[in-house]
Order: sequence, then structure tokens, then C-alpha cells
Amino acid sequence: MVSSLDGSTVVAGKSAPLSSPLDTEVLFALRALADVIVVGAGTVRAEGYGAPSKAGQRIGVVTMSGDLDVDGDLFTSGAGFFICSDSTPDRGVETLRVGTDHIDLDQAIRRLPEISPDVAFVQAEGGARLNGALLDAGLVDELHLTLSPRLVGGDGPRLAAGSGDVTCDLDLAHLAVDDDSFVYTRWTRRT
Ligand SMILES: NC(=O)c1ccc[n+]([C@@H]2O[C@H](COP(=O)([O-])OP(=O)(O)OC[C@H]3O[C@@H](n4cnc5c(N)ncnc54)[C@H](OP(=O)(O)O)[C@@H]3O)[C@@H](O)[C@H]2O)c1
Repeated sequence: MVSSLDGSTVVAGKSAPLSSPLDTEVLFALRALADVIVVGAGTVRAEGYGAPSKAGQRIGVVTMSGDLDVDGDLFTSGAGFFICSDSTPDRGVETLRVGTDHIDLDQAIRRLPEISPDVAFVQAEGGARLNGALLDAGLVDELHLTLSPRLVGGDGPRLAAGSGDVTCDLDLAHLAVDDDSFVYTRWTRRT
């Protein structure tokens, strides 16, 4: 995730205005390690997701509505699949249905081997609502956060939204600053 100094994760509905070339490199480096990417439908609709460049990588889109462009590369490539509930309409893509009227993310993560048999590293790419649900479910092990050296105001979502009051303590594992004052951090959950 990338955030402004005043805590917003978007400018005009997109994360790109907060990012930097190095932040993009960090994202791509993490993507290269991930077996499965999990991302919220709002982020896919806002940012546009295509087929992954890593062979065999799968991208699980968390959605209740199923309102996604299933004719786009993400799904026609066979990489994309839905993480959804029993009530989500069948859109003709592979689905992991985890819950009757809600999405049980704990069950979703446990059942990922049905989609990607050797899955070891799952990268969550936001947005705020998915992050909030992951926090609620105690499923956040690490946070890679870039602080963008700007204040942006507005009503953009913070890193996590919609969860209950959760206390998840983290330890700083990496800290780096570039010449343009972007701060790159990696945090691991305190055990
Ligand atoms: N700065 C960054 O690093 C960064 C990273 C990612 C995204 N973003 C930005 O964040 C914005 C999107 O944020 P968002 O809050 O809309 O987040 P989101 O989590 O990407 O999308 C929310 C949607 O995903 C589905 N969803 C996610 N979690 C769910 C859950 N636990 N249960 C049921 N449905 C769930 C629902 O889809 P349906 O509506 O299909 O049912 C929901 O409407 C975009 O503007 C994007 O650009 C920024």
C-alpha cells in the first residue's frame, strides 16, 4: 500500500498519484514472489487489473456483487477467480465460494490450495475495505507501506476501513528513504 502523509490511499480515486517509480518496483518485486494475489473488487474496478506476468500466478478478486469485467484479460487469461459468497451471481469464472451471505476470508485463505495447490505466499493488494476485513480476521502478517511525501486532503480511504476496533501490533523490519523523500517500510506482525 502507498499512503499520503495525511493518511489517504487515493487522489481522485487512484493510487498512482501517490506512488513513485521505486514504489512501483517494490510492488512488482513483491508480485514476483507471490503465488496468489488477493484484491478487492473496488480496487480492480478503479485500477484495472490484467493478466499477471508471472506464470501460474492466480489473482483472487473478493466480491459479493460479481460486478466485474469478466471479458477482460484478468479473467480470460485464466488467472483471475472470484472469492465470493453463495449469493454471488455465476459470471462464468472460477469461484471460491466461502460463506452464505458474507465472505469468510479465513476460510478463503485456508481453501486457496484448491486454486493454487502449492500456495505459500499470498499478497493482499487492498483496497481499504478488503484490508479492514483481513485485519478483522487476523490475517495480516506483514505490511509493506510506502509513505508518499505529500498531503492530499480529501475523503480518500485510509489503509483499512470497515473493520471493528482492532489492535494488531507490528515491528519495523525495513526502513528506507529515497532522494525524493518517499519512505519505504516493511512491518511484521509481533508474535
Ligand atoms: N494506495 C494504495 O496502495 C491502494 C491500494 C489498493 C487500492 N487503492 C484504492 O482504493 C480504492 C478502493 O478501495 P475500496 O475500499 O473500495 O476497497 P476494495 O476492498 O478494493 O473494494 C471493495 C469491494 O470489494 C468487495 N469486498 C472487499 N472486501 C470484502 C468483504 N470483506 N466482504 C464483501 N465484499 C468485499 C466488495 O465488492 P462488490 O462491490 O463487488 O461486492 C466491495 O464493494 C480505489 O480507489 C483504489 O484505487 C489504493
